[in-house]
Amino acid sequence: MLNAAAAERNKEPILAVLRASVNTERYLQALEISSGTGQHVTHFAQALPNIIWQPSEYDQQSMASIEAYRAHYQLRNVKPVIHLDASLPYQYWGGIQPQSLDLVVNINMIHISPFACTEGLFKGAGAVLKPQGLLLTYGPYAVNGHITPQSNIDFDYSLRQRNPEWGLRDISLLSAISQKHGLFMEKIIDMPANNKCLLFRKESLV
Ligand SMILES: C[S@@+](CC[C@H](N)C(=O)[O-])C[C@H]1O[C@@H](n2cnc3c(N)ncnc32)[C@H](O)[C@@H]1O
Repeated sequence: MLNAAAAERNKEPILAVLRASVNTERYLQALEISSGTGQHVTHFAQALPNIIWQPSEYDQQSMASIEAYRAHYQLRNVKPVIHLDASLPYQYWGGIQPQSLDLVVNINMIHISPFACTEGLFKGAGAVLKPQGLLLTYGPYAVNGHITPQSNIDFDYSLRQRNPEWGLRDISLLSAISQKHGLFMEKIIDMPANNKCLLFRKESLV
């Protein structure tokens, strides 16, 4: 069971956004993309038992950690982890069916992965969400070409030093990509430590 300090800090604020944004009465199907250690999915699953969670990861060590969390908490509403590369089309996402999900959650991946993962995330979410389904992303973002405060500018610089394909993405760019795939940005929520939650709604067919 790996432990990420950031996940421990942000799991409760993100849960508060989920509580306010999703139906807590009806059974819902959710996919988490890049579940990391498994701390988030097990926290959310305990707090929101009406949601059936599908964790996923790209990294094998993280997949093992997610399974260790699952074994520890014995949660009936968390499915076994699947391998998922967000840059690939949804047809490679471990059998996730089109228009089968109410919720897709993606925390702290967009800025720490190549841009192909961001594009794949929106394209895939547009396909696997039901009409009116929700995509929640969390992380630090640029706003209209500006990054604030200085700590996020420094973070962006350090990410690009580690990998030129990484870095904070602009919210307006994400909004434009989401529209290309049948989603629209519904809400921007300021979160602690200069992060944000972005909520994207899949457009209805009617
Ligand atoms: C900073 S970690 C965040 C993990 C977790 N969501 C959290 O907040 O603790 C970034 C995650 O992106 C994942 N990742 C990197 N490339 C990916 C890809 N191509 N598809 C899906 N996830 C990827 C990594 O394996 C890692 O778990």
